[in-house]
Amino acid sequence: MKIAVLPGDGIGPEVTHEAVRVLEALGLPGLELTAAPVGGAAYKASGHPLPAETLAIAKAADAILFGAVGDPDCDGLERSLRPEQAILGLRKELGLFANLRPAKLFKGLEDASALRPEVSSAIDLLIVRELNGDVYFGEKGIRTLPDGRRQGWDMMAYAEDEVRRIAHVGFRAAIGRRNKLCSVDKANVLETSQLWRDVVIEVSADYPEVELSHMYVDNAAMQLVRNPGQFDVMVTGNLFGDILSDQASMCVGSIGLLASASLSEGTQGLYEPIHGSAPDIAGKGLANPMATVLSAAMLLRHSFGLEGEAARIEAAVARALADGARGADLGGSLGTVAIADAILERL
Ligand code: IPM
Ligand code: MG
Repeated sequence: MKIAVLPGDGIGPEVTHEAVRVLEALGLPGLELTAAPVGGAAYKASGHPLPAETLAIAKAADAILFGAVGDPDCDGLERSLRPEQAILGLRKELGLFANLRPAKLFKGLEDASALRPEVSSAIDLLIVRELNGDVYFGEKGIRTLPDGRRQGWDMMAYAEDEVRRIAHVGFRAAIGRRNKLCSVDKANVLETSQLWRDVVIEVSADYPEVELSHMYVDNAAMQLVRNPGQFDVMVTGNLFGDILSDQASMCVGSIGLLASASLSEGTQGLYEPIHGSAPDIAGKGLANPMATVLSAAMLLRHSFGLEGEAARIEAAVARALADGARGADLGGSLGTVAIADAILERL
């Protein structure tokens, strides 16, 4: 079990450290962890956010446990050297096109959600976000128009095969759940979205048992807070998925709880909390490590087929939350290490 551990910036090292403790506590035979710098930390050490050695370690691993990237010190750098390019580069280089972001309300957190308890308690959804295309990876630039005004531009595009493969992931995920797939787009305005919708409908012919619906992204954002219980699996493009998954996180209480898996066509995957590097609380021992611990559970499930161990970690987190183990993000007072200790005790 070769796992590359890339802690990154801000709170990344703190939360990753705790997730590693949880993984090690399982006593899995053959567990081999290799750490490497990434993001702003890597830039400061060696001049590039995704050094060749780090990329090589990631490529050679069965799975990657990733913390977070983003460092205000680096905001002035040219885009190709900014910390965020490390995670975008890994997603692209490793062909990690399918991002799974589950959001489910843990029992006992009804009061922590930004939504009323009767609305939030129904949340059990999975956002399947495409990760290798869209406006993220299109040509982009800032140019000067003939009249002298500066214009920023980013090209949004999806090829049909890119849509098809993520649609398949969405349909297959729905079959393991409640058989409902909602495809989110902006087909009333964007051609990219019209093709997206057409291709998703074509793929649906392979999955007659799945009930497919379509929703414009603005409506989806509204429905996520109005009646999130209506959603089972949502499949969407890179940009819309980025936004909706942050929104979903607050519906279940805290962005400190949302884990994610980024999967390729094979079994290799990258696992990371959906939150960022949170520079304001970095190094203070305040960050909630639960999203990273839950990402480690997804790692065991998706890259190694260790469903039992994954479920054990998830149950320990759920138990800790039910017993009141809360960090500042959930209105509690436990720090990073104490939260991990609470999980470990229950494991
Ligand atoms: C995420 C993050 C990244 C993204 C950033 C750090 C590039 O917000 O994983 O959701 O936009 O995909
Ligand atoms: Mg995001």
